[in-house]
Amino acid sequence: MGYYLVEGGGRIAGEFTVHGSKNAVLPILAATILAQDEVVLENCPQIADVQTSLEILTALGCQVVQEGQSIVIDSRTLEHTQIQEDMVCKMRSSILYLGALLGRCKQATLGHPGGCEIGRRPIDMHLRAFEKMGVQIRETDGILHCEAPLLLGYHIYLEYPSVGATENILLLSVKAEGTTVIHNAAREPEIIALVRFLRACGAEIYGEGTPTIMIEGVRKLHGAYMTIPFDRIEAGTFLCAAAMTGGKLYLKGAERQYMERTLEVLEQVGCGLRCEEEAVYLQAPTRLLSDFSLETGPYPAFPTDMQPLMMSLLTLAKGTCMMSETVFENRFHHAAQLCHMGANIQIHGRSAAVFGVERLHGAVVHATDLRAGAALLLAAIAAEGESRIYGSQYIARGYEKIEDALTFLGGHVRLIEQKE
Ligand code: EPZ
Repeated sequence: MGYYLVEGGGRIAGEFTVHGSKNAVLPILAATILAQDEVVLENCPQIADVQTSLEILTALGCQVVQEGQSIVIDSRTLEHTQIQEDMVCKMRSSILYLGALLGRCKQATLGHPGGCEIGRRPIDMHLRAFEKMGVQIRETDGILHCEAPLLLGYHIYLEYPSVGATENILLLSVKAEGTTVIHNAAREPEIIALVRFLRACGAEIYGEGTPTIMIEGVRKLHGAYMTIPFDRIEAGTFLCAAAMTGGKLYLKGAERQYMERTLEVLEQVGCGLRCEEEAVYLQAPTRLLSDFSLETGPYPAFPTDMQPLMMSLLTLAKGTCMMSETVFENRFHHAAQLCHMGANIQIHGRSAAVFGVERLHGAVVHATDLRAGAALLLAAIAAEGESRIYGSQYIARGYEKIEDALTFLGGHVRLIEQKE
């Protein structure tokens, strides 16, 4: 618990190396349960959600050693198949341990992850797919009791390309009997990373990154060594920070191929971009421009996780942008907070009209989720005067020491911890 104290007016500029991807490392940490040997992961971000994952793995009986960005996990000593409800509430993506535990132990007990600020976030697609593959699910008082005496491969048709459902089906099917095919699978880079890890452990998977993924069940998975790929949302966050503060940023580790749509929008608002194989250089324009519409969607569309950050940037652009959030039903909480800082945004259901203003002013604002919090941080750096952003615990879930990174690059950001 705490708040970020930000002195506005800084210009984000210089060179920064992007960390490993939160949304890639979390499913891979769950997948280590399936490996019957030691796993070594490099370039892991040091964020709260990774700590929570390591607590879960330790509570299940796995051996876990973390040294900086390196994590070694040995799940041969795993002896439990139940994850406490408080852990599940702390981190929604713990639902992925359902697939991993069932794939390894054929049983699992897990609290039903609730919704969160950005939406109800049901898991119906996960559970329907599991039942089709032979999992028996009994829910009592919000606890999911699952057993899978015989896991059989199946053709799963997802009604929406859900990232989590695709990941959970992958975890469940790699050791199932026979062939599983996921139709309308998510195509996000984080799916590709998870498949790379599972394949390094000996899984037989084809088609990742396309809407159809085929998995041939194998009897055993061995250990692996993997470097976590870069975080495309952290990269987009820092590029937006430079763009909205008139900066110039050389972002090492960012790969254009996984950020195409985000980079297109940054060019659309007037930024100059130069892309190298594993770096992106951004030069901010003297004035940002908007007068276009922007819709979020499943990859490769504009990422929903970038929507709050881009909205923050657009509050200062000359013109109006009509934003449409098609992925989550309640992901505009940051808009009201940005208006406290002088932004002019009108929300109508899943649409937001962002009317650019000349400047923002500091204010006391509240983060309600990870990306909304980051959006407020960026606005506070670009604003005139001092801001306080409460709810720092949300931001710490997904950004490694963002206060140090933004200060290193020219912002004036301090984290003031408060006792719970
Ligand atoms: C992952 O969440 C990410 N989280 C989210 O990032 C990201 O916003 C999201 O994918 C979309 O890209 C992690 O990877 C840990 P979904 P996930 O299943 O898997 C509905 C961040 O800030 N749905 O693709 O939960 C759901 O309600 C976080 O890093 C069902 O209806 O996303 C949502 O409207 C936020 N039934 C839509 O699908 C289901 O069974 C997309 O959800 C599953 C999902």
